[in-house]
Amino acid sequence: MSVVCVNSCGWLLDSCSLIDEGLQRCVSYCDGLDKPTHFRCCFKREYFNTVRPHVQIQQNTDISTSTAKHSDGEHAKIELQTRKKRKRKRRDLNTGELDANIYHGKIRLVVLEGSLALLEAGRQCGYLTEVLTTPPSESMPSHECRLAALCDMAKQLPLTDESLMAPVQTLNRDGLDPSVDLFSNITENPFNCAYEVTLMKEKYFLPPRSRFLLSDITRMHPLVNSGDKYDLIVLDPPWENKSVKRSNRYSSLPSSQLKQLPVPALAAPECLVVTWVTNRAKHLRFIKEELYPFWAVEVLAEWLWVKVTRTGEFVFPLDSPHKKPYEVLVLGRHRSGTDHTVRSPAAEELPEQRLLISIPSVLHSQKPSLSAVLKPYISPEPKCLELFARSLQCDWTSWGNEVIKFQHSSYFTRERAEEPSTTSETAIKQ
Ligand SMILES: C[S@@+](CC[C@H](N)C(=O)[O-])C[C@H]1O[C@@H](n2cnc3c(N)ncnc32)[C@H](O)[C@@H]1O
Repeated sequence: MSVVCVNSCGWLLDSCSLIDEGLQRCVSYCDGLDKPTHFRCCFKREYFNTVRPHVQIQQNTDISTSTAKHSDGEHAKIELQTRKKRKRKRRDLNTGELDANIYHGKIRLVVLEGSLALLEAGRQCGYLTEVLTTPPSESMPSHECRLAALCDMAKQLPLTDESLMAPVQTLNRDGLDPSVDLFSNITENPFNCAYEVTLMKEKYFLPPRSRFLLSDITRMHPLVNSGDKYDLIVLDPPWENKSVKRSNRYSSLPSSQLKQLPVPALAAPECLVVTWVTNRAKHLRFIKEELYPFWAVEVLAEWLWVKVTRTGEFVFPLDSPHKKPYEVLVLGRHRSGTDHTVRSPAAEELPEQRLLISIPSVLHSQKPSLSAVLKPYISPEPKCLELFARSLQCDWTSWGNEVIKFQHSSYFTRERAEEPSTTSETAIKQ
């Protein structure tokens, strides 16, 4: 039940089940086995175990932090910093903050009222719980990801003929050829089941019929040269902001560089382009006024991802002057020809406003998959592409300098499964 509830305001999503789709049947020839092992995988549930809001506002709007992790000393420090910030903001809001306030004023009722019925339905069906059965997770083991650094090194190498011609390297029944070049070729799992493969001495799961390119933004040629055109392109750029810079989680890109993404070359006519954006009015304006017009994408809708805890509370107070419990998605269509009224066959009209509600992962910036909710708005057998991805999806092509990060086996639990009685699962897609 990856879509838990749906109504005219939007969807309540179970992001973790969305990740598990396609991992019910996994095959592995790792560890030099002659015979494959069969098992099913689940993304570890503790990554989605947000049980309490990160900050709670008490009466008289006195702020006190309430995350389980903070000691009293940390509480006091955060409280003091928050007060200082609030004092400054009351005196002199800068243009960005003023813009953000205006935006918030416009959408706060949409979030508040739109969430009510979906959250209630989520409680009724038992997905959102009042009584907590699992204690909050303490520390989460995390695998050290060196993929971006490797892409950085790979971009210094001269371009090979293969990468210019863009062959797709395909997994065979025994796994991947160890000599494959992941940085200059698209790698594909053509089978109808997931595969466990060893890449650079680490184990990763490749969902059925998924393809990926692991590269820096300056090395996207294989995607363009493959000649594939996509009906849906979702991108989650590494926007420049202080929190990403401070956390040193991944490197960011200036807006001017985002314009160089080959979106027009990758977009099929009427391609739906969806961009995730942080709550900075400057970035939202940039997408709507510069980026989309530059790519010939017409802005059609702005949806909101609302983040809630397992009990259905917003993860930050809705009116918090700092972090908001929502993020924005800007949706538009690539208008390549002159006739702007042509719609993709069987695609419904895109609604201007929708809410996607889900429990966020504790992994920084991990977004819910949009494949289920966007289905009605694209053609029946669409080609889908995710840019700046950190995970793979069945039937999608994904690109980024950490594109297989969350496919690492350490993020999953596995259970043994029966061997398939037929060979249909290990059949190659038609
Ligand atoms: C906001 S995150 C994407 C998060 C992803 N949507 C998820 O749900 O996990 C942005 C990604 O862009 C990647 N990135 C940053 N600079 C890049 C570059 N020059 N080339 C390719 N990818 C880059 C980062 O490493 C990071 O993985």
